[in-house]
Amino acid sequence: MKIGIIGAGNIGGNLTRRLTALGHDVAVANSRGPQTLTALAEETGARPVRAEEAARGAEVVVVTVPLKAVPDLPAGLLKEAADGAVVIDTNNYYPQRDGRIAAIEDEGLTESRWTERHLGHPVVKAFNGTYAQDLLDRHRPAGDPGRLALPVAGDDPAAKAKVRALIGELGFDTVDSGTLDDSWRQQPGTPVYGLREGVDAVTEALAAASPERPADFRA
Ligand SMILES: NC(=O)c1ccc[n+]([C@@H]2O[C@H](COP(=O)([O-])OP(=O)(O)OC[C@H]3O[C@@H](n4cnc5c(N)ncnc54)[C@H](OP(=O)(O)O)[C@@H]3O)[C@@H](O)[C@H]2O)c1
Repeated sequence: MKIGIIGAGNIGGNLTRRLTALGHDVAVANSRGPQTLTALAEETGARPVRAEEAARGAEVVVVTVPLKAVPDLPAGLLKEAADGAVVIDTNNYYPQRDGRIAAIEDEGLTESRWTERHLGHPVVKAFNGTYAQDLLDRHRPAGDPGRLALPVAGDDPAAKAKVRALIGELGFDTVDSGTLDDSWRQQPGTPVYGLREGVDAVTEALAAASPERPADFRA
């Protein structure tokens, strides 16, 4: 599958490593340009590109940048993506890093709804509570008793199914955590955030979440 990854840091870098290892055709971009991604490209075989080009022809696009950078992404970022492209949003709002975002704090938008509005394209929320290193170290085959589960939220059932299948390929189970408006259940500070457990415990943690934004993640 043709996959574009925007952001080549902890999460984007490790998704590049794993998705290329699985045989996907990956284009990866950062803010500084492809000439700064030669080491990652040599290591993985991914194509280093400018952010504007990362989504070109891609069936799946991953946006994995600090939340404050989302409004700075190039306009029309997704316009050359394949028809029906699915966009995965891994991002979290950390006010200490991202500054205060009133639409999230005051209007109660979920972090992914805010991102979706900036991108002008539906997103599926996934990987936001996953330690980047776990993508490399903790993948397991289907049926393995130690296989971890990741929550996935989104409005379009087909897009969500595609993301869940891809995460399955990456070596993790998934739990449907509802629509994007329900995705507060997996935001920072919730019981499922950073939880390294299987399907049952992740399902319970999602159910135990409070819609109130935790104090540590407010500004
Ligand atoms: N770290 C984790 O374990 C983890 C886990 C789950 C979710 N997350 C979330 O996932 C997102 C990414 O986290 P991370 O730890 O991977 O971040 P990171 O290591 O800081 O990497 C961020 C990447 O985004 C790129 N970037 C920033 N602004 C950009 C722009 N305008 N255009 C294109 N690329 C841009 C950076 O490029 P340059 O280096 O060239 O600036 C860098 O490659 C965050 O929202 C984070 O909260 C992180």
